[in-house]
Amino acid sequence: IDQLLADGVAGKRVFVRADLNVPLDGTTITDDGRIRAVQPTIAKLAEAGARVVVASHLGRPKGAPDPAFSLAPAAARLGELLGTHVEFATDTVGESATATVAALQDGQVAVLENLRFNPGETSKDDAERGVFADRLASLADVYVGDGFGAVHRKHASVFDLPARLPHAAGFLIDTEVGVLKKLTEDVSRPYVVVLGGAKVSDKLGVIDHLLEKADRILIGGGMAYTFLKAQGHEVGISLLQEDQVPAVLEYLERAEAKGVEFVLPVDVLVASEFPDLKTKAPANPAVVAADAIPADQEGLDIGPETRKLYASKLADAATVFWNGPMGVFEHPDYAEGTKAVAQALVDSPAFSVVGGGDSAAAVRILGFDEKAFGHISTGGGASLEYLEGKTLPGLAALED
Ligand code: 3PG
Repeated sequence: IDQLLADGVAGKRVFVRADLNVPLDGTTITDDGRIRAVQPTIAKLAEAGARVVVASHLGRPKGAPDPAFSLAPAAARLGELLGTHVEFATDTVGESATATVAALQDGQVAVLENLRFNPGETSKDDAERGVFADRLASLADVYVGDGFGAVHRKHASVFDLPARLPHAAGFLIDTEVGVLKKLTEDVSRPYVVVLGGAKVSDKLGVIDHLLEKADRILIGGGMAYTFLKAQGHEVGISLLQEDQVPAVLEYLERAEAKGVEFVLPVDVLVASEFPDLKTKAPANPAVVAADAIPADQEGLDIGPETRKLYASKLADAATVFWNGPMGVFEHPDYAEGTKAVAQALVDSPAFSVVGGGDSAAAVRILGFDEKAFGHISTGGGASLEYLEGKTLPGLAALED
């Protein structure tokens, strides 16, 4: 983007592919981190006199307009952050988008409606994506890729569109890739990784890779119960991916052979039912040892001993990568595990990278100061796939 700005963008229509996929409660944005993260790129382009066309996906609509997934709230929030009026087109390549972009003056910003309202955006068919990318290309002179959270998707606006326009990476992608590169190339040790979240199947690729890189891996969240099961413990009615038990067992054995320390919860908070996240009614969980979860109970957070254990395992780290909450942090009775990990990172001098929409949002929602962390990534799947060493379509498309 520096080169692009140096060459001059005044009067040019610059298409910014952002990731404005923010969590919403109705039309209220509960965490605007992703909008703030892309704001510098948009602000700089507008200041330089570009006519900025911002596009993004939100959620997973079914390839057709769906008001529940409108980007209108995100466009309004972007306008507030920029301190300027932001135009909003009610479609992506139709009449509204064409007219909105045509009316843009130098330095003005418009946001298009959700790209995924068009089936061409996510199509597996190259030709169908190509048709949509051609139509998007007609709205712009230059492409700036800055939706880091979506670079692992081979989607029209991420992969096919940059091939059709002069293109550059924005400030956010530049920063994100710089940080993650550090974790894959010259990482300072001890390198401790904390993995949580619901599904172990989402994390197998990254665990495979981390067994070659990390010194210590701490496991929490819903995925911990598949690990406990693999160790021969009963997990009651906790989240369990039984089909992943053999893979997990193999990882535990490989870790032991390689001297990578795997740390599992020693105690957990349990209840007989999932908490009500709307009313947040008290859940009154019990603390039980991780190898003694009653048959009718569900593990919903790591317990107090585990919190202490994990804090001690993080205290001497030089580098930390954390992806995924330790429990159902959206409910106050199950937020302590996630808070304890966040606090341990704040207290530690380690360079800490928080990756993943959920853990990044958790850190902010639980009231931590973002600046206390080395880097909070806007990418969940994208940062994991980067660490797995995969080629990410949205980065490959910007490289040449
Ligand atoms: C994310 O939330 O990880 C990104 O916005 C990508 O969204 P997706 O998983 O729906 O493609």
